[in-house]
Amino acid sequence: MRANSDDRRHWLAGRLASADGFVSGAVLAEEMGVSRVAVWKQIRRLREAGYAVEVSGDGYRLRVRSDGLLPAEIRFGLATKDFGRSVEVVPVTASTNLLARAAAERGAPHGHLVVAEEQTQGRGRRGRAWISPPGGLWFSLVLRDGFSVGELPLLSGAVGVAVAETLARVGLEVGIKWPNDILVAGKKCGGILLELAGESDALAYTVVGIGLDVNVRPGERDPTLARVTTSLAAELGRPVDRRLLLQDLLVQLERWCGAVRAAPAEILAAWRARDALAGRRVRLRQGDAVLEGEAAGIADDGGLRLRLPHGTVITRWSGDVSLSDGEEPAGG
Ligand code: BTN
Repeated sequence: MRANSDDRRHWLAGRLASADGFVSGAVLAEEMGVSRVAVWKQIRRLREAGYAVEVSGDGYRLRVRSDGLLPAEIRFGLATKDFGRSVEVVPVTASTNLLARAAAERGAPHGHLVVAEEQTQGRGRRGRAWISPPGGLWFSLVLRDGFSVGELPLLSGAVGVAVAETLARVGLEVGIKWPNDILVAGKKCGGILLELAGESDALAYTVVGIGLDVNVRPGERDPTLARVTTSLAAELGRPVDRRLLLQDLLVQLERWCGAVRAAPAEILAAWRARDALAGRRVRLRQGDAVLEGEAAGIADDGGLRLRLPHGTVITRWSGDVSLSDGEEPAGG
C-alpha cells in the first residue's frame, strides 16, 4: 500500500465500498500497514468528506447512499474497464471540461472522470453557456485513444448513441438531433461537448463533456427554453438515481467510444435508428451562412446529409440545425 495519505483514504473508501458488511479496524490496519489509530484518523477524514461510514464494535461499514456521487460510491459496482476507474468529484466548479483538461495535462489516465454537483460557467456548443444547477448530471471524461480530427464526428455520434441507449433502457423514448442533442419525447434533455488537444492526426486527448437534466425541473436551467426542454424526472414522473444512471452511462460510453474504430457500422446503424431529423425540412446555420433543405440522414463519417431544394445532396460536419416549420426540437 502506498504511503500517501490521500491514496490511503481512497483505498480505504474503495475497500469499505466493496466489503459485504463491517470490516474490523484490526484487519484494515494490517491490510494498510498502519496502526488502528491511523485507520481511525482516515475514517474521520472520510466522514468529513461526506462518506457515510458507520462505526460499531464489529468495525467500519460504508453506507453507499442512493444517488450518492462520491468517488467510492461511483466506483462501487461499476462494470467498466477504464471509464470512471479514476474519478474526481467536486461540489462546484466552473466547468468539468476545464477540470478534465487540467487533469489530462497532469497525465490523468484514459477514462478519467470528473463530476460536479454544480457548474458556475458550464460550456455549451458554439460558445454558449450551459446553466448547470444541482440535480443534474454534469461530467467529463478524458479519452486517450489518439483519435484524429477526422474521427471526431463519428465519436460525437458514438457518445450520443451511448447516452440515448442508456436512457432508452430506463424506459424513455429517445431521439438524437444531429450532431448529438439528446431529445426525450422530442424535447432536449441533454447536450454533449467534445474538446480536443494535440496534433490533428493523433490527438493527445479528447475531453467528452456530458450534461443531463436528470432531476432538474423543466425550465429551471433556462426559463426561455421551458417549452423545448425537459428533464428525465419530469418525463418519468419520478426522481432518477444519478449514481446508477452515471454507472450505466459509463458502461455504454466505454462500449460505444470503443466502437469508433472497432465497429463504426454499428454506431451508424444505432444513430440512424434514432435520427430525430431524417426527412424533416431543416435550416443549418454555420456562422452567418444558412442552408435550407431536407435532412437526408447521417453520412458514413458522421456528417449531416442535406438535400438542397434543387435535389443535390451535400454533407456538413458542423453547424446548428433547426426545423424550418418552426416546430423546434430544442436549441442550446
Ligand atoms: C450543448 O450545448 O448542447 C452541450 C452542452 C454540454 C454541457 C456539459 S455539462 C458537463 C460538461 N462541462 C461543461 O462545461 N460542458 C459539458
